[in-house]
Amino acid sequence: MKLFDVYPLMPINIVKAENCKLWDENGTEYLDFYGGHAVISVGHTHPHYVEKIKNQLDQIGFYSNSVINKLQEELAEKLGKISGYEDYALFLCNSGAEANENALKIASFTSGKKKFITFRNSFHGRTSAVVAATDDSSIVAPVNETSNFIFCEWNNAEAFEKLFKENLHDLAGVIIEGIQGIGGIQIPSQELMSKISELCTENSVFFISDEIQSGYARSGKFFAHQHFKVKPDIITTAKGMANGFPIGGVLVSPKIPAKHKMLGTTFGGNHLACAAAIAVLEIIADENLMEESFQKGAYLIQKLQEIPQIKEIRGKGLLIGIDFEIPAAHVSKKLREEHKIFVGSAKNPLTMRLLPPLTISYSEIDYFIASLQSVLNLI
Ligand SMILES: Cc1ncc(COP(=O)(O)O)c(C=O)c1O
Repeated sequence: MKLFDVYPLMPINIVKAENCKLWDENGTEYLDFYGGHAVISVGHTHPHYVEKIKNQLDQIGFYSNSVINKLQEELAEKLGKISGYEDYALFLCNSGAEANENALKIASFTSGKKKFITFRNSFHGRTSAVVAATDDSSIVAPVNETSNFIFCEWNNAEAFEKLFKENLHDLAGVIIEGIQGIGGIQIPSQELMSKISELCTENSVFFISDEIQSGYARSGKFFAHQHFKVKPDIITTAKGMANGFPIGGVLVSPKIPAKHKMLGTTFGGNHLACAAAIAVLEIIADENLMEESFQKGAYLIQKLQEIPQIKEIRGKGLLIGIDFEIPAAHVSKKLREEHKIFVGSAKNPLTMRLLPPLTISYSEIDYFIASLQSVLNLI
């Protein structure tokens, strides 16, 4: 059997990794400035992470959600504490798309309504409802088409208010990324975030923050929306949550009551996934990675500002987008082939995304900057 060919692949077979370094089958070393789509939060094969997963596997890897799982409780407690959402409740699932699907279901079940406001340039996943909430018609199959999602212009608080009021009768919620990721690291305006928060609270509409890419300390705060001093009703997480072990989470406000059978999953919150996710939170706390992300991101942005060929830099912490006047893929290819560095792309072909593990060192940042400058000087 062949693989169903849906990914345009680089001809590189990665077989080993340690912290921010990757090695292919020929022993060629690469610097990971992409974290495999912002997934690697605490560095590849972190010793505490590996030990915790190995030990858990010796005990039990999986049992069903019909029995008590103390690891889920430990994860919820630690996540509540580090994020400042101790009074919220946690539902565990397996991926980002699944977390967002469940967030929409919670808002819809609780309100009895079915419409959501979403934003231009957004990405919320590839499954049923969330792909319809994503601003990319090329990945929406006919079966996913629905009129339940109303797209609002990005960072236009006035347009948002108008759409909100026009659709209030049917509106279950508003979904927005803490910082838009695939859209090119677009930061929401304070005005828009405050308006969403204010209108949702006044009208009992659910404010959903998709923190799947921007959460877990990546932006220098635990969740990116915390830069704007707003408090969403529902928060979704995945990617960095277990450093590559598949897991997703939905944090739910205490004002939303849970009901048995409202949500469910076979694999979600299994013992092994919880052990991996607990290890990640322990490492983030022990190694002060929220502050590290903030400081190193500021350093990286300051160094990027010294490169004249860069047109625009956006970002917070280690969630950074840079625009060139030439296709970013051209620069990425040279970085990969000549300097052995992986970086990310974005929806806009002129944009490059930088999402290194939060454990990246200053000397690795310097190596990246020198390599980028050298590539751009030769183009
Ligand atoms: C903001 C955001 N939401 C949702 C998703 C979907 O996550 P997953 O690929 O784990 O389903 C992604 C993935 O890139 C994302 O960046």
